[in-house]
This record gives sequence, C-alpha cells and structure tokens, in this order.
Amino acid sequence: VTPRRAAARNRWTRVLILGIETSCDETAAAVVEDGRAVRSNVVASQDDLHAEYRGVVPELASRAHAERILPVVRRAMSEAGVVLERIDAVAVGHRPGLIGSLLVGVAAAKALAWSLGKPLIGVDHVHAHLYAGLLAHGGTDAVAASEALELFPALGLVVSGGHTALYRCESPTRLTRLGTTIDDALGEAFDKAATILGVPYPGGPNLDRLACSPGADDSAQEFPISRLGPGSLDFSFSGLKTSLLYAVRGVPGPGGVFERDHASLSASRQADLAASFQRAAVGAVMLKLRRAVEAGGAGAYRSLLVGGGVCANSRLRRDLVAFAAERGLVLRLPPMELCVDNAAMIAGLGYHSLREGAVSSLDLAAVPTTAC
Ligand code: KG4
Ligand code: ZN
Repeated sequence: VTPRRAAARNRWTRVLILGIETSCDETAAAVVEDGRAVRSNVVASQDDLHAEYRGVVPELASRAHAERILPVVRRAMSEAGVVLERIDAVAVGHRPGLIGSLLVGVAAAKALAWSLGKPLIGVDHVHAHLYAGLLAHGGTDAVAASEALELFPALGLVVSGGHTALYRCESPTRLTRLGTTIDDALGEAFDKAATILGVPYPGGPNLDRLACSPGADDSAQEFPISRLGPGSLDFSFSGLKTSLLYAVRGVPGPGGVFERDHASLSASRQADLAASFQRAAVGAVMLKLRRAVEAGGAGAYRSLLVGGGVCANSRLRRDLVAFAAERGLVLRLPPMELCVDNAAMIAGLGYHSLREGAVSSLDLAAVPTTAC
C-alpha cells in the first residue's frame, strides 16, 4: 500500500458521528471524529427569546427548535466539510430535558438515521456533559485513546441550570450517580439569588461579576452550607436561597409581608451579599466533592471530570483547580463552549455507545428524566 493510498484509507476509516441536542433552549448539531476531535460545533441559542420571561418557556423553545434544527444540522455538516452520506451514525440527546424540546431533536435524528440507513444512538444529556472534557476543540489537545482510559475511574460533577449531580465513572458509558440536588440546580440557585439581589438577567454570570468586584467581602454574611446527612452526597440550595431572601428583605411579618426589598440595598451591601452567597454555594459543591473522594478511599479516582454552564463561575473554577491539585486528580475542565449545552458532547459519547454496540431502535423515546 502506497503512503497516499494508506492516508486515503485512513481518512475513510475514521468514524464520524453527527450529534443532535435540543433538550432545553439551545438547538445544536456537531460532527465529531473518532469520539475526540470536534469537526464542527454549531449552537443556536434561544436566549433572546426567553429573556423577557427570565426563564425558558417550553412551548416557545420547542417551536424554535422545529424552525432551527435543519439549518443547524446543515451548518454543522458544511463546517465539518462532510456530506451527510459520509456520517457513520446519528447520536441524539434523548433524555433528560423538556419533553417538547427533546421530541424535536429525537424526531430529526430518527428521520436522518432512517433515510441514511445509519445507526441511531440515544445519549443521556447529563452523562454527555461529563464527556465534554475528553473532546479536543479550538486548540485544546485531543485526549489520546490510551490517555482517556487512564482518566478512569473518574469522579464526575455536572453543574448547570437544570442539573447538579455527582458520579462515579468507570468509563465514559458506565456511570453510577452518587448524589443529586434535592431541590434547585446550582445554576438555578444562582439565577434566583440574582433576582433576589436585583441583579439583571442573565443572573448567574452577573452575580459572579458582582461578587468579584473590588471590595466585595465574601465573609460579610454567614450563609448556611447544606450538609444533609453525615455521608450524603446530595445537594440542597433552598435553605441558602431563603437565607439570602431574608438577608435582603428582612424576616417576613404577619401575612408573609416583607419589610423591604433589594431597592434598599447599598451597592456595597449588594456586592457583599453576592460574594457571600457565591462562597456558600460553591462551598457546598466543594464539600460534597471532598466527601465523595474521602468515601471512595485512597486512589479511588484518577481524575475529576466536570461539565455544565456553571463551570463558568470564577470561584468554582478556582476552587476546582486547587482541589484537584491537592488530591492529585487530573482535572478536565472543558472550554466554555463545551461546558454549556452542545451537541459535540452528545456525538463524542455516542461514539463509545456505538463501539459497544449500544445502538437504539427507531422507536427511541424522548424521556424527561435522566437514566441514572
Ligand atoms: O449548562 P447551561 O448552559 O444551561 C442549562 O442548564 O441548560 O447552564 C446555564 C446556567 C444558568 O443557570 C446560568 O446562570 C449559570 O449556568 N451560569 C453561572 C455562570 N455562568 C453561567 N452561574 C454562576 N456563575 C457564572 N459565571
Ligand atoms: Zn445541559
């Protein structure tokens, strides 16, 4: 075989997976090669559509997905420089999420898989968030196949607007959930805290900015860090949220009427409360990470895989870096475009399901809850 023929054969034996993601309010499609190299990653955000409601309106989201899914898939294909016929499989995030949103992506993926005669692979969106750190994108190095295996067993943390969960991962596809939130997701808690403090939308990033502003004192207010049971790896943010509410508005009098609201906060008090809230919220996550590592015993984990939009939080990133260094864990903190909802993580994890023969049938269901 001549080198040119070998190169050509090599090119055509690479596995290309088209990923589709529509679980919440981003319409996304991506092409990933061999489960590692992101050839394209297209995300059409609906932020502007939902901003005036300060939250995602499910009916608006699914209608927008229906309008955008085909243009988004077409763009992902053209940016990857491949034709649909060249795709080896179609992976789709089919759980968990808003049912009307999931249905659009699942229907599109089924139609493409059927018409191309290629396998369909249903992927759990939350598990896929943990895979984001193993992808190569925008100058970050691909994790070589051998190196990827060395990252397991891994401790996995997903922190987003919809999910907060800890996992033990034996491999990209074999996960056991160790804990989850019993009330709000971390991002949701940040967004609600921002509303209580009168911080404008988008709440999470703006609260972070305020908490980092010069002079903001993160110990100005002592907020509770929920521990739950002594060995619990679950999360709870509702007590913290109520404490912040009372710190801002005072304790409600008879009939639940508050004596004041955020308009009466001075700028410096607002920044102090933002910083104190952020310290407690991130502290709660770090507490559970420490517990998980200690419960696992020495050498139980080789790496820490994290994903989800709250990875943008400056304090969380700083604390994760310090924690991983202190515990001797390899930290895979993906670039922001792969932390937020995207389809590259779906295609990447789908590659491993395909290799393991875990292919879905054309009656794959959209499911609102996670697999585990
Ligand atoms: O993963 P993601 O894009 O969305 C879904 O869950 O669908 O995460 C968005 C969440 C929002 O709640 C947002 O407020 C939060 O992540 N977030 C942040 C920061 N940036 C985004 N929370 C705290 N600090 C940030 N810098
Ligand atoms: Zn997500």
